[in-house]
Amino acid sequence: MYIEKVKSSRLTPESLEIKTFGNTFADHMLVCNYKDGVWGEAKIIPFQEMSFSPAMQAIHYGQACFEGMKAYKDENGDVFMFRPEKNFERINNSAIRLNMPPVPKEVFMDGLKALLDIDRDWVPPTYGMALYLRPFIFATEPMITARSSEEFMFCVITAVAPDYYAKPLRVKIADKYSRSANGGVGYAKAAGNYAASFYPTKLAREEGFDQVIWTDASTHEFIEEAGTMNVFVRINDTLITAPISERILNGVTRNSLINIAKHNGWKVEERPIKVSEMKAAHKDGSLKEVFGCGTAVVLNTFSAIGYPDETLDLADMPMEESWGKQLKKQLMDIQNNKSEDPFGWRV
Ligand code: COI
Repeated sequence: MYIEKVKSSRLTPESLEIKTFGNTFADHMLVCNYKDGVWGEAKIIPFQEMSFSPAMQAIHYGQACFEGMKAYKDENGDVFMFRPEKNFERINNSAIRLNMPPVPKEVFMDGLKALLDIDRDWVPPTYGMALYLRPFIFATEPMITARSSEEFMFCVITAVAPDYYAKPLRVKIADKYSRSANGGVGYAKAAGNYAASFYPTKLAREEGFDQVIWTDASTHEFIEEAGTMNVFVRINDTLITAPISERILNGVTRNSLINIAKHNGWKVEERPIKVSEMKAAHKDGSLKEVFGCGTAVVLNTFSAIGYPDETLDLADMPMEESWGKQLKKQLMDIQNNKSEDPFGWRV
């Protein structure tokens, strides 16, 4: 692998104490170009601006997808990724759906490991912080014909990651806009899925909410995701989450929480959950907690759920009563090498 290191690092002690997610980038990045039907050599180069034609297809037609992963540092200074195979599988599932060439495993895995090794000082040693890894593939052919590009770039950039949301969220149930539909790209981490969510999210913010709970496109009766997160609803002693489908992202955090909850002996149901069921459970007192999860956010509890006619408030529960808070700690302990890893997830 070609490696060009920075002449001097931009890292300062403050870089590892930042409070905002997503704009403090580490020194290096990985790039790999696809042309004439083949992926070229992966290169690690200084993080830098890149220049492209204004006709680049990704800009016009959104042929682009990405992944979200994190690297953690333990007390000995060792650095870990968490289930990177899952992200490797998913970026290629997304790529195939968007008619982009899958990235070879050695480019993805060896590239990530080499990049992390070079920028290991950028992985914060603080529990609760991590280095966010952002692999992405985009169409680079300079041509505005509406057809698939034949040239692509795979990149990985990394950014210091504090808490994504530092507070419980107020979420509004979508009754007009949708995130995904059958036969669409909901299960893929397609760049356009996120672009399409920004306007409904802005409207929800104007009404005093932080995020939208996405419901199914045909009836708006079933809960699917929230913002960029998978959703869990706890009714009495059962944790319920929508089943993975072509509309719902197969979240690595979602899957990990299900495994940990089952390992704890807790009941988990992967089944459709109705918006009305959650409301009825709130009325009869059986709705204990609702939370979202994802790589960036880890797990965030919801403090209020906005229906068209009323807003349901959810009490903040202490750690010993909250399954969400306990699951978050168990997951973070595994990720940060603070506990056993019974599932073999640390890499
Ligand atoms: C992640 O959790 O990694 C996500 O994909 C959210 C991201 C859009 C910030």
